[in-house]
Amino acid sequence: MLPIKIIDLVKTFSLAGDSTPQTVIRGVSLDINAGETIAFMGPSGSGKSTLLNLIAGLEEPTQGKIFFGEKELTSMTLAEKEKTRLNSISYVFQFFHLLPTLTALENCALVAIEQGDRNIKEIVSDAKDMLKLLGLEGAENKRPAQLSGGMQARTALARALLSRPQLILADEPTGNLDSKSGEAVLDLLFQEQKKRKFTLLLVTHDESAARRAERIIRFRDGQLQT
Ligand SMILES: Nc1ncnc2c1ncn2[C@@H]1O[C@H](COP(=O)(O)OP(=O)(O)OP(=O)(O)O)[C@@H](O)[C@H]1O
Ligand SMILES: [Mg+2]
Repeated sequence: MLPIKIIDLVKTFSLAGDSTPQTVIRGVSLDINAGETIAFMGPSGSGKSTLLNLIAGLEEPTQGKIFFGEKELTSMTLAEKEKTRLNSISYVFQFFHLLPTLTALENCALVAIEQGDRNIKEIVSDAKDMLKLLGLEGAENKRPAQLSGGMQARTALARALLSRPQLILADEPTGNLDSKSGEAVLDLLFQEQKKRKFTLLLVTHDESAARRAERIIRFRDGQLQT
């Protein structure tokens, strides 16, 4: 596992046709230990998802640097970034982003297969085990539309875990769930984190969810509050 170092990060969006660019991340510096769990909180629009997108390499910073260990994400080529993302980072989105035409099992296995370093039989068998562990036995062959929100969240989590990431970015993974399903997803996420020691960055509006993390960082207007 690698520590992450964020140095003086700035992100400005210039919208087409809009003459005033909007700076949404304003000089964020942060050291994240390998295997640490951090919850990010803050008002809507304060820049939490943007920060996660920058760390995932999905957005380019306007200024500043991000390091994974010795490697600078912000100076990687597109191909290197994609490789890092595929092999080391899993993103669990609020709306789960499952592929609608694939079954739960296929959704789960796809990223691990793309990684290309394990044989497909082994991945499918691991995917089945993972779905079972997350209480989705019997739902393997269902498509996302046939699953409840909680089941979709657990499928997305199974997919994230199956790719054996060093870092999981979870952006309000329970935001669309009732409190019971939300608790169950968080229980699983934090249980697996204890076992596998991946770094976990969780964005949440829920104080009790945030308290599960080792550290809570609050955001306001694109800055970390100290
Ligand atoms: N791709 C983009 N282009 C232009 N502006 C953007 C883009 N992404 C985000 N923004 C703007 O950046 C600001 C921060 O957005 P962000 O999604 O990071 O907030 P957030 O803290 O995740 O909010 P929420 O809690 O509602 O999810 C918002 O004003 C948003 O409109
Ligand atoms: Mg957000």
